[in-house]
Amino acid sequence: MDKFNHLIDMDDYSVRQWNEIIELAEKIKVDPESYGDRCKGKIMATLFYEPSTRTQMSFQAAMIRLGGSIIGFDNPSNSSVAKGENLKDTIKIVSTYSDILVMRHTQEGSAKAAALCADCHIINAGDGGHLHPTQTLTDLLTLKSELGRLDNLTVGLCGDLKYGRTVHSLVKALSCYPNNKFVLISTPDLALPSYIKDVIKSRGSSFIEVRTIDEAIKDLDMLYMTRIQRERFSSEAEYESQKDVYCLTKAKMQYARRDMIVMHPLPRVNEIEVAVDSDPRAAYFRQANNGMYVRMALILYTMNSEPKIKPLLTGEIHNKVQCTNPKCVTQTETYLPHSFINRGDILVCEYCDERILL
Ligand code: NCD
Repeated sequence: MDKFNHLIDMDDYSVRQWNEIIELAEKIKVDPESYGDRCKGKIMATLFYEPSTRTQMSFQAAMIRLGGSIIGFDNPSNSSVAKGENLKDTIKIVSTYSDILVMRHTQEGSAKAAALCADCHIINAGDGGHLHPTQTLTDLLTLKSELGRLDNLTVGLCGDLKYGRTVHSLVKALSCYPNNKFVLISTPDLALPSYIKDVIKSRGSSFIEVRTIDEAIKDLDMLYMTRIQRERFSSEAEYESQKDVYCLTKAKMQYARRDMIVMHPLPRVNEIEVAVDSDPRAAYFRQANNGMYVRMALILYTMNSEPKIKPLLTGEIHNKVQCTNPKCVTQTETYLPHSFINRGDILVCEYCDERILL
């Protein structure tokens, strides 16, 4: 049993709780100074095994603005990871130094693996190409403040839907609100993984798949542009074949509704022309700013709510079965129990959601 308020995936909290975190972020945004000593004496660790600007710094700024302190690394080669220390030992120790631990890691399922051995709350700041729940909280706050609602939306998601972890968490969250529709704009090679499509279907939301921005843009309330995730491709040639396929230009924006907004988790490479930045519908810099307030709210919510007493792994342990996802955390962190949800003819890895046909 676990006694911490980890945020590994959006479904660690209920929709009611997401709404409470967003409402708290809205309050903080109006008067951040009045929250200036709420985390006095508390320590947050930020362990970033992958590059980051916004997520890392907005978490750090959030903790400092709440009166707390920060420790951590943003380059594992400056830590004992470079000496070969496993994830378990690093987390076990750092989590005793801190009250809350924010981790970004290259491997899928690494946040759950960290939570299994942690002595404090773990926040998933991105686990490989899998999930990124705190970006989703940022996105929900942005949608609410820009469009006034989180339901009845037609949302276009464009670019790397396969490896884009922000897309995965956002779709999982928005499909929990009524009447949201998704327009998935990608090449077949970068399509949304089928396990996320199944989540959309199981929640009664709908989606269509198209190849171009042009055929979708006029119907959208929000267009979510994403970077092609170069670092996740198995070869440079594969990346070269997909890069630069999508670019949102000023010319394309003429076909969008006057009240449509453009979002992007950033960093942008070249999928949005710089000329679009001055369009009032370009919401991505406002979105990045919201990230700090939502993370202030999340830190307070995590520290102050009743611990969720629930098991982290609920599946069957099959230590002789190896997850087939080469990026799954169980490939390198070999001490982890191989836990799977049994769905009859398939086993679903409890760390990375890979489906294994029996
Ligand atoms: C995203 C990420 O790291 O997944 N960035 C972010 O957290 N704001 C998107 C990306 O890197 O393309």
